[in-house]
Amino acid sequence: MPVSITESHPVPTHMKGRDFLTFLEYSPAELQELLSLAAYLKKMKRSRTPHRLLEGRSVAMYFEKPSNRTRCSFEVGIYDLGMHPFMLRKDEINLGVRETIADTARTLARYVDGVMIRTFAQKDVEEMAQWSSVPIINGLTDDYHPCQVLADLLTVQEHFGELKGRKLTYVGDGNNMANSLMLGCAMVGMDVTIASPSGYQPRPDIVAQAQSIAKENGATVAVSDDVKGAVKNASVVYTDVWASMGQEAEAEARKVAFKDYQVNAANMANALPEAIVLHCLPAHRGEEISEEVLEKFAPVIFEQAENRLHAQKAVMAAVIE
Ligand code: CP
Repeated sequence: MPVSITESHPVPTHMKGRDFLTFLEYSPAELQELLSLAAYLKKMKRSRTPHRLLEGRSVAMYFEKPSNRTRCSFEVGIYDLGMHPFMLRKDEINLGVRETIADTARTLARYVDGVMIRTFAQKDVEEMAQWSSVPIINGLTDDYHPCQVLADLLTVQEHFGELKGRKLTYVGDGNNMANSLMLGCAMVGMDVTIASPSGYQPRPDIVAQAQSIAKENGATVAVSDDVKGAVKNASVVYTDVWASMGQEAEAEARKVAFKDYQVNAANMANALPEAIVLHCLPAHRGEEISEEVLEKFAPVIFEQAENRLHAQKAVMAAVIE
């Protein structure tokens, strides 16, 4: 269903206090509500209409991995909503080392109204959420990147007008992006195929979970090692770096394993004529994507990057009390 943008968009209150850890905490209808709110907040931002929905609150951002998009879009988004952002580095908090995660969570919740975390282990984010009385938002773990995929769905919806029935093919490593794309697409009724070489395919338990959700929403989830077949009929072709943060030592071996898994003009010839290419960025030109394809689709790829801002503002407006 296309997002309807009205002049006055009510902010849903029934998600207040909830964490945003995977996608699985939300129903498909709630996901659509977040997309609708994101589209509305984008309109407000573009028209420079103030939308300080959470005046006076504070949000902490904790990073154990580098970031451009997540850091900047959260910080600007927190300001836009009238809140105070502040950054916590690993050498300040050292999650789970300097003190228990439970103590970090309970302390932070006495000062702030929400916490965004980018770290390695999903279990650490979930432990924070277990102990925190304020919402925990996952800004990327080794397993999931739900904020990115909310922005991706917004981008696809803006481009095609609808999500349900479209096919997204992800070409590359079966990483956190592959996992969150499978879950997010399944929830909105998009077919998704992951094309990865043997040994680098997504976790079978997450594939099975996404397949079950997809079935309920009239969609399919498939995994293949055949890029040409996977890209056929795709409206969206998506890729990500071959070696994610923390896998730098494997970079050379991965270049060999993934050499046939580049999104380039030859592979795009198998997609639908109207297909777009998305990339969560940062991009490694000449590896997972050719220079030519990246630049051809740069307008939509940087729209996608901008949509991180609007999607995350929707999450914060919906969950922070
Ligand atoms: N896509 C993404 O999360 O970008 P950053 O790593 O720059 O935050």
